Amino acid sequence: MSNLPSGNRDSFSSKFGVIAAAAGSAVGLGNIWKFPYIAGVYGGAAFLFVYLAFILAIGLPVMLSELIIGRSSRKNAFGAFKVLAPGTPWRYIGILGVGAAFLILSFYGVVAGWSIEYIVLSLKNGFSAKSPDEIGLLFTTLIESPVKPVIFQLIFMVLSAGIVIVGIQKGIEKYTKILMPLLVIILVFLCVKSVSLEGAKAGLNFLFKPDFSKLTADGILSALGHAFFTLSLGMGTLITYGSYIQKDNNLVNTVINVTVADTVIALMAGIAIFPAVFAFGIEPSQGPGLIFVTLPNVFHQMPGGYVFSILFFVLLSVAALTSSISILEVVVAYFKEEFNMGRKASTILATVLISILGVLCSLSMGVLSPYTFMGLNIFDLMDWISANLFLPVGGMFIALFVGWYLGRKKVKEEVAQGGTLSGALLSIFMFLVKFIAPIAIAIVMLNNFGLLKF
Ligand code: PFF
Ligand code: NA
Repeated sequence: MSNLPSGNRDSFSSKFGVIAAAAGSAVGLGNIWKFPYIAGVYGGAAFLFVYLAFILAIGLPVMLSELIIGRSSRKNAFGAFKVLAPGTPWRYIGILGVGAAFLILSFYGVVAGWSIEYIVLSLKNGFSAKSPDEIGLLFTTLIESPVKPVIFQLIFMVLSAGIVIVGIQKGIEKYTKILMPLLVIILVFLCVKSVSLEGAKAGLNFLFKPDFSKLTADGILSALGHAFFTLSLGMGTLITYGSYIQKDNNLVNTVINVTVADTVIALMAGIAIFPAVFAFGIEPSQGPGLIFVTLPNVFHQMPGGYVFSILFFVLLSVAALTSSISILEVVVAYFKEEFNMGRKASTILATVLISILGVLCSLSMGVLSPYTFMGLNIFDLMDWISANLFLPVGGMFIALFVGWYLGRKKVKEEVAQGGTLSGALLSIFMFLVKFIAPIAIAIVMLNNFGLLKF
């Protein structure tokens, strides 16, 4: 029995199911919507390289750490620390994670709602015969409206809740097996089209030719925050998913597969978008609307663009869904296991609470836009606090926990089940989680808050 999850907890039935679910969580709006938009804000290539460095030095080890914590404890993000480190304050990391899940899903649902609205617009052929400026205006009008985006957002939240109630494994596997490759194929077409536009070269230069003098403390922190966000790290999502992983799964392979898939898809999104941004004279640093005002122009000019556009926004919405359920699951597993609530009741409670905050995020694009804090509206604030504060801090403690509290022997035991990690690789991993990751995170954060200047 020791190889099976205890009690009646769910578990993934196949090895593929685990990778599928973790990849489904990782690949989402973060890759296709957020990565190009923040790369655009922070100057392109320089941001990209810092982000890639953080993925390698921090993302990979923290992902493995989360899976180790989850699988060895078989608990939610909060309960895991209570089991592994009873009577210690480590469990507050779990609380931070639940908080981050809450904030992230509140604005994530808004963007997913836009994506659904764009399916409808695509069906109605709503972008044809429009200039780039008109397409930009269409987007602004749409997100500022107080009703429609909220409705689409709530539809998305209800869909997410429905899947979480039924149980997370069902459906995810199918999506990742069939639809994710389809998303990749569409991205390939988009990349080819975008790169062959007149003036595309400037976009490729922007994305790949770094000018490190453009790098700011803010940009570095955002690259760090995004490395966590895009890999679904720092808040216990992969602790929760790890708790459903069977002992014969090779954790190291899972980590590598998921990270590579996520990074490749983000890069493809960048290649699909920036050449077009420059070709159409769109402002790369315009913010959250970047893909929504750029891609319709590309679809316009593609043979079969009508169909591509519908397919693209359907797949983007589905990708958002497989991520949102993993975010929701963090909160649900916490309610369920710590307050002894049923799955259905916890899901409904979590969804209602998150949706209330989410509606405020949506309205902050329009009627609530005068309400700002540090110059950020509610939407941007939730994004900033969760990605740039909660996730890196959560990730830092997760790394410290595995490095110093669990220790080498326990790590070795856990990864040895279903896989191997050579002594040298294990040493590198331990060095990264004990020193490199926590110190780098601390420096980046202190530097951003002006507490440390270098
Ligand atoms: N990784 C997802 C994306 O890139 O869209 C977003 C996300 C999912 C963030 C799950 C955090 C998380 F726990
Ligand atoms: Na991602």
